[in-house]
Amino acid sequence: MGEIIGLGISHSPLFGIPPEKMSGALRARLNDPKVPASLKDPKNWPRQMVEEYGDDFGAAAGACHQAAMLADFRKIRSVLDDFKPDFVLIWGDDQYENFREEIIPPFCIEAFDEVKARPWAAAPDSRRGFRANVWNEPEDYEFTVKCHREAARYIATALLEQDFDMAYSYKPRFHKGLAHAFMNAVLYLDYDRKGFQHRIVPISVNCYGREVISAQGLYAIGDGEVQPDPPAPSPRRCFNLGAAIARIVRDSPWRVALMASSAWSHSFLTPKTHRMMPDVETDRQLFAAMRDGNYQFWRNFTLTDLEAAGGGETLNWFNLVGAMSELNYKLDWSSFLETYVFNATKVSAVFGPK
Ligand SMILES: [Fe+2]
Repeated sequence: MGEIIGLGISHSPLFGIPPEKMSGALRARLNDPKVPASLKDPKNWPRQMVEEYGDDFGAAAGACHQAAMLADFRKIRSVLDDFKPDFVLIWGDDQYENFREEIIPPFCIEAFDEVKARPWAAAPDSRRGFRANVWNEPEDYEFTVKCHREAARYIATALLEQDFDMAYSYKPRFHKGLAHAFMNAVLYLDYDRKGFQHRIVPISVNCYGREVISAQGLYAIGDGEVQPDPPAPSPRRCFNLGAAIARIVRDSPWRVALMASSAWSHSFLTPKTHRMMPDVETDRQLFAAMRDGNYQFWRNFTLTDLEAAGGGETLNWFNLVGAMSELNYKLDWSSFLETYVFNATKVSAVFGPK
């Protein structure tokens, strides 16, 4: 019988840049003529948003937000090290990175032995160029992430035998090696750069759905109408995949950490706020249900409501919560860092048997 622990972290790029730059997305919206003037007026902002933005464009609040998140990363890392998993299975979004026009799988398990990761490598076909980072690592910085090909093949095989049509991949095509959801998870769990020896099994989830190609996983360029792509897999499908994987690894010989990697509602995905701030209220509801073990609230959540809340990336957590529901695990520890200024609600979590 496999031993299992459940973990959740965020992978926001904001934790690899200086605090004074963390409100950059909001500042871009404030300079966007398409955003109504009334929304730009701090008199109409939530009080917490006014306080966060302050008179320094959010620099002081950003430093606090970053410090709180780093403490959470270190906490999760110590839990992971104590657990000594054979591998960490990570659900993460592929944001027009490994998967593009050639193919967009709803899910894909990556069965690599190892991958050369180049977190800062820019490419001419990417909207994301080289970014100065808090570690001062150069554009050609490279490190090796160990993976677990045998376990990935085992899980893909078991899913297919149970009529769950899982795609698999033996080789990355993305120039960085790993999509940001997996890359940043490793970078942040090794924030102190002591080395990350745990093996991983990435499972990409098409969290960007209708905007994965049409908006290149970010937001539409220019004012032109974009043709929406087919949707993301539904929250229920993600929940059920998590449950199926939980059963498979429970019956396997391995010690496994099941980890969701993403923040929740994203400002730039939230149409109701003109993409200026995240839907904090919906995140509070989801968090309360997770904390209280009300997993049916998650299972019954609709994709329509999740898209309206800018919560595409939360689909990674629907996999985790489905797995925890299947195992009858409860939340052991959590941290809920809400923000109106720094793009997205950051949640960290540890689940264990009860
Ligand atoms: Fe992401």
